[in-house]
Amino acid sequence: VQKHQNQIIAIDGPAGSGKSTAARLLAPRVDFLHVDTGAIYRTLTLLAIEGNIDLDNQQALAALVPQLNISFKTASDRILVFSGDREVSNEIRNPELTAQVHFAAASPLVRQALQPLQRSFAVSHSVVMEGRDIGTVIFPDADLKFFLDAPLKSRAERRWRELQAKGEKISLQEVEADQTARDKNDTDRQTAPLRAAEDAIVVDTGLYDIDGMVEELERIVRSKLAIPAGAEEQS
Ligand code: CDP
Repeated sequence: VQKHQNQIIAIDGPAGSGKSTAARLLAPRVDFLHVDTGAIYRTLTLLAIEGNIDLDNQQALAALVPQLNISFKTASDRILVFSGDREVSNEIRNPELTAQVHFAAASPLVRQALQPLQRSFAVSHSVVMEGRDIGTVIFPDADLKFFLDAPLKSRAERRWRELQAKGEKISLQEVEADQTARDKNDTDRQTAPLRAAEDAIVVDTGLYDIDGMVEELERIVRSKLAIPAGAEEQS
């Protein structure tokens, strides 16, 4: 009997490109676990702030990694993030915290420490894993790699609408400025910069509505991967 291998779909791309929505909706369609690695960097930042740890102190940040106990639960319209028993989904996405995540993201020590944790999610499940460096660093041998992108204007608008819906008081200009800064940090950093893997399929998410995008991704997944029976085709 052939051993069942877990499969890995990597989804990378800049802020607001629709990665999270795509991954969240795609994963159940193929019966994979959705892993949002941005939530890991965000939760680490939250714990550091709450522990009064200097975000500039790479050693201290990396020392928090073994304490991370992150899990994900799919709710109807979003993914819930837990740190131990505590749900942190909203806190980790507020704009103040978002503006601080670059400390953890830019640190080679932190990125190194987070590698085993990210890979461990694929030990027991097939995964749709989204982030910035999944196809390049975390799973360079992923079965399938997507790089989702869209023009800055539409990415900023998408994120602004999400934040509005949560009642955050923030202007579109502020969101655009934040994303420009994060894109620059993510693209320019020395360690694991944001870029499409050579073998990634680049998708311009500005060309689709959400349903259309997920259908397109699912179509590609089913054409390239053997999806085990039981993951029903939905339409
Ligand atoms: O949701 P959004 O795309 O705005 O961000 P995210 O995916 O939650 O990631 C938040 C931040 O974490 C990003 O701006 C990156 O700096 C960092 N990150 C990273 O460096 N590597 C990853 N694999 C995932 C996130």
